[in-house]
Amino acid sequence: MDFTKLFSLEGKIALITGGSRGIGKMLLEGFLAAGCEKVYITARKREQLAETEAEFNAAYPGKVIGLAGDLSQRDDLAALVKELSSRESRLDVLVNNAGAAWGAEFGQFPEAGWDKVMDLNVKSLFFLTQALFPLLKAAGTFDRPAKVINIASIDGLRPNPWETYSYQASKAAVVHLTKRLAARLIKDNIVCTAIAPGAYPSEMNKAAAKNPEGSARGIPYKRVGVAEDIAGGAIYLASRAGDYVVGTTIPIDGGIVNAWIPEDFNDPSGH
Ligand SMILES: NC(=O)c1ccc[n+]([C@@H]2O[C@H](COP(=O)([O-])OP(=O)(O)OC[C@H]3O[C@@H](n4cnc5c(N)ncnc54)[C@H](OP(=O)(O)O)[C@@H]3O)[C@@H](O)[C@H]2O)c1
Repeated sequence: MDFTKLFSLEGKIALITGGSRGIGKMLLEGFLAAGCEKVYITARKREQLAETEAEFNAAYPGKVIGLAGDLSQRDDLAALVKELSSRESRLDVLVNNAGAAWGAEFGQFPEAGWDKVMDLNVKSLFFLTQALFPLLKAAGTFDRPAKVINIASIDGLRPNPWETYSYQASKAAVVHLTKRLAARLIKDNIVCTAIAPGAYPSEMNKAAAKNPEGSARGIPYKRVGVAEDIAGGAIYLASRAGDYVVGTTIPIDGGIVNAWIPEDFNDPSGH
């Protein structure tokens, strides 16, 4: 076994949606370190996209390409796919990471907060994967499949106390959609999986960014996630090492989902 090849992304072409900041930027850093030939990143805000592009091109010249657009808009999605298709004849790894959240009290929860979150987190994830299918199919072989990695959330694996109704439902949908897509895509040598992140500092998770110690109290590991944690998981799934992991969602959360016992746990069995 050649360990240098097992986790390598040497020569791979990847696309990370929402790669301009937060978790997407952490994944970008990891994919470049793992040897990707090129990483395309997308976001709506051109300035932030250009900043991230420039930041990483300084260390990895010409390897990061930003494509601006709103993935929840059908025309933007089509334009993005057209642009990528004009530049590349294959796509080895697609990371569906762009996401949005909305919180509002149950009685006041607005339809806009439902549609915005579902449109981006679920609908555009599906239709982008569908539109990029020809490029993914062109990249995948039986011996080295192409990869689709969906960024779900631990909020799709268990309920939490926040009133983010559409977000929690959207992420549960991503977990299930990952299984259904995996069943279809494996027929064309494309492996689909998901990652369920816990708490990572970002614009979406301001609590983890502004008060990491506070967030850490609710995490068995007692710290928030960092780039190595999430990138390590994505590199595993994207590389040869993860080829046989199909349809699975891996929580990378410091134990919130699988190793959390509340301090005041009252054993209903009476022990
Ligand atoms: N951070 C966490 O603790 C955490 C935990 C669990 C799951 N997640 C998931 O991880 C993913 C990334 O979240 P994050 O925390 O890194 O959030 P973030 O800092 O808000 O980053 C979101 C990224 O998506 C882009 N984006 C947002 N709306 C878009 C749209 N309509 N079209 C295209 N791009 C869009 C943003 O750029 P623009 O604003 O410029 O478009 C940005 O690059 C999300 O799917 C989120 O649900 C995060």
